[in-house]
Amino acid sequence: MKNCKSAIKRIAINTGGGDAPGLNAVIRAVVVSALSKGWECVGIRDGYNGLMRPEDYPEGGLITLTRGKVRGITNLGGTILGTTNAGNPIKYPTMGPDGKMYEKDCSDELVAAFRKNDLDALVALGGDGSLGIANELSKKGLRVIGVPKTIDNDLDKTVVTFGFDMAVSFATECIDRLHSTADAHRRVMVVEVMGRYAGWIALNSGVSGNADAILIPEIPYDIHKVAAALRERPKRGKHYAIVVVAEGAKPVGGEASVVSKELGRAEKLGGAGERIAKDLEPLVGMECRTVVLGHLLRGGCPTTFDRLISLRFGAAAVRALEEGRSGVMVALDPPTVRYVPLKDATNRMKTVPLDCDTVITARDLGISFGD
Ligand code: F6P
Repeated sequence: MKNCKSAIKRIAINTGGGDAPGLNAVIRAVVVSALSKGWECVGIRDGYNGLMRPEDYPEGGLITLTRGKVRGITNLGGTILGTTNAGNPIKYPTMGPDGKMYEKDCSDELVAAFRKNDLDALVALGGDGSLGIANELSKKGLRVIGVPKTIDNDLDKTVVTFGFDMAVSFATECIDRLHSTADAHRRVMVVEVMGRYAGWIALNSGVSGNADAILIPEIPYDIHKVAAALRERPKRGKHYAIVVVAEGAKPVGGEASVVSKELGRAEKLGGAGERIAKDLEPLVGMECRTVVLGHLLRGGCPTTFDRLISLRFGAAAVRALEEGRSGVMVALDPPTVRYVPLKDATNRMKTVPLDCDTVITARDLGISFGD
């Protein structure tokens, strides 16, 4: 954790990776707090692209953030700055002399662009990828404060990330709705939710929504065990089933369902639910249908919980800069918000511990993990 006491006049904010409800609330809190300290605020468009490729933005790659610009945005989903999953400055897709694309480390050029634009500090809103980049920029001398965002809740060193509560609440609502139609048709409904490497959304919504099975990346599943568990249900008078699947779920000895892997971005997953439905159908003797909630989980207004922690995180990020901190992430540690080194927060992914209380509760309630 560095200590930088030089005066701040102008700060930048950016949003990177997949959007999450609460981004705009953080932006508003940062801007209002910073302006009240006499600092100027600008937003970088689309991750770092507004600084890396200003020529792509006829209206300017930086947006001046005034009170007017952030008025009334606390409850809005998305991000007024735009975001991208494909703009990692450390692995920037660049055309080589041979005409082929390759990944180039452009972090020095990016730091130079910060200096050229008189930006004294950065508040970076992101998940593990974006905050890993923020950590590298801080190592290169940029004053950086990270704010933990991701609907997946897979960032370490914070009890929760903003956006997760909305994703779980909406997934639970969808699961609730599927019970009656599954019951009416005596079907198995397989519900696929986001969660690439961590099954938090599937676990929390599956338990809250009374699923019969929950399949998460942390617990490779045996489809025969899932089927055996579902075949028990009719004996107890339940003639339908709900299976909640994280997109990164994988069978024992198998791999997650990867759709594509492109240069400069994380692999794209898809098809986990469909694969499970197809494999289950002959084993349970019931029709199995799939619903993919996907990006719906990232949409809509943040819940009250997400809004509140977003506002708290944004204000805390500005306080951190005022206190001379850098290279840290604001983190929820109830009842307070504290600061943790960015390197600790991005060192490992926070996956679901197999002995955590929610997993034990699910097992106590008879929910199968297919293991
Ligand atoms: O990282 C958050 C996340 O929501 C993952 O669960 C999901 O795999 C990914 O984003 C999807 O991102 P994209 O919009 O690039 O497909």
